[in-house]
Amino acid sequence: MDNTATLPAKTRFTTEDDITAEVLRRFERTDDPRLREIMLSLTRHLHAFVKDVRLKEGEWWNGIQFLTATGQMCSDKRQEFILLSDTMGISMLVDLISNGKPPGATESTVFGPFYREGGPEMPEGGNVAEGAEDGTPTIVTGRVLDMRGNPIAGAKLDVWQADPEGLYDSQRPELADELHMRGIFHSGADGRYVIRTVRPVHYQIPTDGPVGKMLAATKRHPWRPAHIHFKVTADGYQPLTTHLFDNIDEYLDTDAVFGVKDSLICEFPLHTTRDEDSVRFGVDPPFCTTRYDFVLAPA
Ligand code: BEZ
Ligand code: FE
Repeated sequence: MDNTATLPAKTRFTTEDDITAEVLRRFERTDDPRLREIMLSLTRHLHAFVKDVRLKEGEWWNGIQFLTATGQMCSDKRQEFILLSDTMGISMLVDLISNGKPPGATESTVFGPFYREGGPEMPEGGNVAEGAEDGTPTIVTGRVLDMRGNPIAGAKLDVWQADPEGLYDSQRPELADELHMRGIFHSGADGRYVIRTVRPVHYQIPTDGPVGKMLAATKRHPWRPAHIHFKVTADGYQPLTTHLFDNIDEYLDTDAVFGVKDSLICEFPLHTTRDEDSVRFGVDPPFCTTRYDFVLAPA
């Protein structure tokens, strides 16, 4: 008996490309046009990747276990998925796409996982590094300006930094929830700000989780060049999240999270005699200074 008439017109999903085409077809009716674009492109790229490397079942399972462990490492103090995004260069890609600044405005860089709300409000010259005995005292000065070079008064500078041992406060269980190496400053009428801190040091991003294993397995180092974090905001201007990097750092060219931009690299000269700010704010030599004017783009 000829039973071909009872067979489906087309055998379903027999080839690798059939499956890709069918998954794409299932996302076609997504109402939200942006979600549709993202799901279709994600499907195309993920399927192309699996086919490109000829992914085997054991490797797929390793990948599932890696992503599971990444999720399990997350807590209110730890965001391993952001760290994964950072070390894959995704965070910097998103930053470049989302926060592109007009020429002349200060460039942004990666936010990182260590920002915390509620840093202490500090007066001009306030010390972010209270109690950090081991670091070299450092005075960071400059102005907050608009694109025409006019001062922006009352801009808020939210500052955070790793301590002289290269750890953020949230990485020190002994500090419990205490905030350390953080401060909020405001620019004066002339746009000027003065921050006391210690010279930043290079430090390792957390390596005790799946991201650390990935870096070790691929012979990548976990170091970030020395930097100070800034979130600068002012009414009528685009918020700016950035760092100032120390120009002598050995990891500037190989930052584990790809965050370095030339325009954010500063000199931190060492002084052995007093200058005006050191007298005013009671900083004994030897100390470092650095200068940077933040230029904000209009909102
Ligand atoms: C940071 O600079 O605090 C940072 C950025 C990305 C990953 C880890 C740390
Ligand atoms: Fe940092």
